[in-house]
Amino acid sequence: MIFELRAKDGLGRVAKLSIDGKSIETPSLMPVINPNLPLITPKEMKKLFKTDIIITNAYVLYRSFNIKDIHKFLDFDGIVVTDSGSFQLMQYGEIDITNKEIVEYQNKINVDVATFLDIPTKPYVNYEKAKKDLDITIERGEEARILREKELNGTIQGSTYLDLRKYASLRMSKYDFDIYPIGAVVPLLMNYDFPKITEIVLTCKKYLPLNKPVHLFGAGHPLIFSIAVLLGCDLFDSAAYALYAKDNRYLTPSGTKNLNDMKYLPCSCPVCSEYTIEELRSSEEKTKLLAMHNLYVSYEEIKKIKEAVHENSLWNFVESRIRNHPRLYYAYKKIKEYSDFIRKLDPFIKNTPLFYTGEETELRPIVKEAKERLKRVSAKKDTKNSLFNYPKALSFTFPFNVEMESNLDFDLNEEYLEVILDFQFGKGTGKRFLKNTTAKRSKTGRIRYIYGKDLLATLRARDNLFTLTSKGAKRLHRILRYPKYRVMASEEAVPFVREGKDLLSKFAVSWDPELRAYEEVLIIDPDDTLIGTGTLMLSPAELECFERGVAVKNRTTINL
Ligand code: GUN
Ligand code: ZN
Repeated sequence: MIFELRAKDGLGRVAKLSIDGKSIETPSLMPVINPNLPLITPKEMKKLFKTDIIITNAYVLYRSFNIKDIHKFLDFDGIVVTDSGSFQLMQYGEIDITNKEIVEYQNKINVDVATFLDIPTKPYVNYEKAKKDLDITIERGEEARILREKELNGTIQGSTYLDLRKYASLRMSKYDFDIYPIGAVVPLLMNYDFPKITEIVLTCKKYLPLNKPVHLFGAGHPLIFSIAVLLGCDLFDSAAYALYAKDNRYLTPSGTKNLNDMKYLPCSCPVCSEYTIEELRSSEEKTKLLAMHNLYVSYEEIKKIKEAVHENSLWNFVESRIRNHPRLYYAYKKIKEYSDFIRKLDPFIKNTPLFYTGEETELRPIVKEAKERLKRVSAKKDTKNSLFNYPKALSFTFPFNVEMESNLDFDLNEEYLEVILDFQFGKGTGKRFLKNTTAKRSKTGRIRYIYGKDLLATLRARDNLFTLTSKGAKRLHRILRYPKYRVMASEEAVPFVREGKDLLSKFAVSWDPELRAYEEVLIIDPDDTLIGTGTLMLSPAELECFERGVAVKNRTTINL
């Protein structure tokens, strides 16, 4: 299993997940395939939705079929995940197979990701029951890890007890599972108990390894995808698309409707474009068509979320989605209790301005982080908007540039640059950096460049923060004491960074622990000699554990 981050926002990430030579991009949706009655076959899904990962049930296969190879049986060459029969266990109380048997069976039929027989304890059972179930689950996890060499799910249980979820996460982390599903949330989903799910997910995320994908087991409704991604979930499985279709239900990102109650089809997917609602209702293929629509809607939501992560607008997006159900709104409010954990992982610099969408925007961890960072600035906080009191000099600087209209006729002049530099790199940096420099304006008349003899820094238009040239990096390196704003490369990576190549995560050996993802940083060799400068792509906790991917995107092309 290889898991490599490509973009981040909140605890959400777009990442490349490779299993056995097959790669997908997460966040991703795994449609559940019912081997007894596939409404839409995996092959059709691949054609319609570019489906590259599916999930099916090993227990059902074991009971009813004689299978040599799961990919041949399903006629699908993408990633096949199997569940273990735990769900049947939850529904019927017991099943006639052992953990060992079901794991070995999954090995035998050649699945890509297997699941052991965890016990999905129902919500709000008594503590002793939850603990007893969890101990068995962990024991089975240990047993399964020995029985299977290839990819294996390590499902986290613990019912609604957060201390048990924490314990499960810590224990299961030790066995090096490949994917960590969060289990037994289906009954909570059915009750719209999204606040409890939020607490469970954040508790697990806090204690699970950051370099492994997390699957929210059984969450197939698009209503919850965006907040779940924001909280750090990477994989979803949908049985909902088919179950709802059989029940005449039509999914939308804002909830579920009964086809009989509707007058219009508020969607432009191929099904809703081709059929009128009357035609759809009376079609012999109604269930399949509804299932197709339901999957279109689900995949579309995942794509929107990925785009939002890419442009760092996921918080804005989620704040629009939580309006779709009051329980989602209350779930979002739970985030406040985990603010100190989240703000260390949430990028501090974003491609998209922070939108004020209502009072809950104040709960975003970045608001706390920004207030903390304002302590670096000695200028008077003489300006305010709905979230901050801040110095006028930061009016165009992220994250204070919330409401641009109020500042439109205001222009920065040179004396403001010091404040921005202090805010970005620390108290006292501005004055020293600006010694013997001149500010130059761009063609549009805005202050944009700091020159010494040569160009030192450019004030980026989108967020009024600086990017450095190699000369500017040298100057900053002289001003800031080790380890401030530094990421250290290992000896073997030094020649590559000097050539202008990115610093890869596995060659980053130490760093300023106060850094946040997407900040501009200095790259140094083991003797603190400057060798590059660029954008930090991960947060310190991720630098710690990711073996793959870029740590610092190097922008220096000149040999330093
Ligand atoms: N499907 C939905 N929830 C669960 C769970 O907790 N465990 C397993 N194995 N499958 C599930
Ligand atoms: Zn549709």
